[in-house]
Amino acid sequence: MCGIIAYVGRQQALPILINGLKRLEYRGYDSAGVAVMNPNLTIYKKKGKVINLEEHALNNKIDSTIGMGHTRWATHGEPCDRNSHPHLSNKKDLAIIHNGIIENYATLKQELLSKGHVFESDTDSEVLIHFIEDIQENLGCALEEAVRIALTRVTGAYAIVVMSQKNPDMLIAARKSSPLIVGVGKDEFFLASDATPIIQYTKQVVYLKDYEVAVIKNGKLTITDLQNNIHDAYIKELDIELAAIEKGNFEHYMLKEIFEQPKTILDCLRGRLLAEEGKVRLGGLREYIDQLCNAKRIIIIACGTSLNAGMVARYLFQEICRIPVEVEYASEFRYGSPVVRDGDVVIAISQSGETADTLVAIEKAKEMGAIILGICNVVGSSIPRASHAGVYTHAGAEIGVASTKAFTAQLTVLYLIALQVAKEKGTLDNDRFRLLLNELDKIPAKVQTILDNSYLTQSLASLYLDAQNMIYLGRGYNFPIALEGALKIKEISYIHAEGYPAAEMKHGPIALIDEEMPVVFIATKDHTYEKIVSNIQEVKARKGKVIAIVTEGDEMVKSLADHVFEIPETDEILTPLLSVIPLQLFAYYTGVLRGCNVDQPRNLAKSVTVE
Ligand code: AGP
Repeated sequence: MCGIIAYVGRQQALPILINGLKRLEYRGYDSAGVAVMNPNLTIYKKKGKVINLEEHALNNKIDSTIGMGHTRWATHGEPCDRNSHPHLSNKKDLAIIHNGIIENYATLKQELLSKGHVFESDTDSEVLIHFIEDIQENLGCALEEAVRIALTRVTGAYAIVVMSQKNPDMLIAARKSSPLIVGVGKDEFFLASDATPIIQYTKQVVYLKDYEVAVIKNGKLTITDLQNNIHDAYIKELDIELAAIEKGNFEHYMLKEIFEQPKTILDCLRGRLLAEEGKVRLGGLREYIDQLCNAKRIIIIACGTSLNAGMVARYLFQEICRIPVEVEYASEFRYGSPVVRDGDVVIAISQSGETADTLVAIEKAKEMGAIILGICNVVGSSIPRASHAGVYTHAGAEIGVASTKAFTAQLTVLYLIALQVAKEKGTLDNDRFRLLLNELDKIPAKVQTILDNSYLTQSLASLYLDAQNMIYLGRGYNFPIALEGALKIKEISYIHAEGYPAAEMKHGPIALIDEEMPVVFIATKDHTYEKIVSNIQEVKARKGKVIAIVTEGDEMVKSLADHVFEIPETDEILTPLLSVIPLQLFAYYTGVLRGCNVDQPRNLAKSVTVE
């Protein structure tokens, strides 16, 4: 899940490439590189952050109005200058940047080695540009034809851009499974993995589809498939403002995005939750609401934080819609032997809309005849395009690698869907339905109240930043929030943590409890409250340190726990929308106090576009 940017036009390319790579750095930050025509094909690349590349490249006098750039998340070959992109062909007159994995690269490499090719890196991407060169030489065809032929013979995922010494004003790009968009400006073109590096220059974009090839030459854009059939370039208007991807007055994107949640939840509810009229309106599901209401089973497919949102939805759909739900890790669904029957509806949840594991799982479920409903945050991304219908979460661009506002927006959409289905099915009496609508309407203000007390989580974090391990516990709707809290602290502060159903402690993990083990309980008032109080006493009996998220005014848990964080009261079904906020803040402040890069945690990337 690397970041790709390319430019051809009338402006100097290097500043556009470097700024673009900085915007794309959340997609991978192991190394970065650019290629320009200065006047010959010239590569600058460096291990580490884009800033290293910038310092390196800017020592040179560069005059080029064409170029491409890459920020890497290493798959094949360790992060180092040699494995950084761009990579050159054997004769060094072709260059490539690549996001994805060429699965059959080892076989191709053997063939090319036997023909005398010499490789400089350990990457699959370098093999592809050597392969393209070999085809062009053998067939004596045009470069774009050689690229098309090569792509019919590779397996895996790719978004690529190719530059050529012999065609100094041409860019060739192509995609399959990895995202790639074309930005159409006045006498200039941009190519990028997503819209973030383009919006400051143009809002006119073309979303390349799988197996499409874009050739930009002589100021003209041509899109074909791999058989060279011309495809129309559907230009779409981007609906995103530059300010949305700036940090504003916040030190980190993660903190900005946590504090955006009152607004993002409101944006997600707008025009969908009609509390006065006592109804929910989800235009994106209109054609499939009957299938959903009559679903024999719902299968939720997702990864990471999105999977935790799915876990909350399981409790929700089973309780208020009375529909059985299974939640599947996308990768396990794809390579397992799932049983999909008529009447099953699949809900695929993804912030980025580009997660490869989820995308291939959707394709498998579709082959098995399932209806696919998508819940996604990025308009025009692959998962919405692969789904039959769906709902956008409207949380705005989420730049921080750790998902926060997208999670609460996903939950909000899932609540809206479940309430609409329950209403249609009559599995919820009208009073309860209206109560939940009104309570949902109050959530943004209650989240704001929690954020107003964020300083409490900062002081709490300062007490536990030396912890080696942590355990997060919750029951019912709050069990997935325990999983999410544990995931956040792992991602952001590198403290090992596990989330468990609180009752499960007695069956093993309680062996881990001693005075060194912080245990975070989500102990809000609900029908299991008494049970979780007993679980807290079991931990205290073994001298564990207890941090508890409680409903405001709770005195019982306050008397037992070492630290409590109070959240406003709401209906137990909706508690996850509130109980997760202090856990996001706790992870953020712990990460900052431990000196971690909270926006770009090590080894992670924002959208995982490889399996
Ligand atoms: C969450 O903080 C992580 N960034 C990661 O677990 C993420 O949720 C997962 O990769 C799924 O991403 P998606 O929602 O974009 O599909």
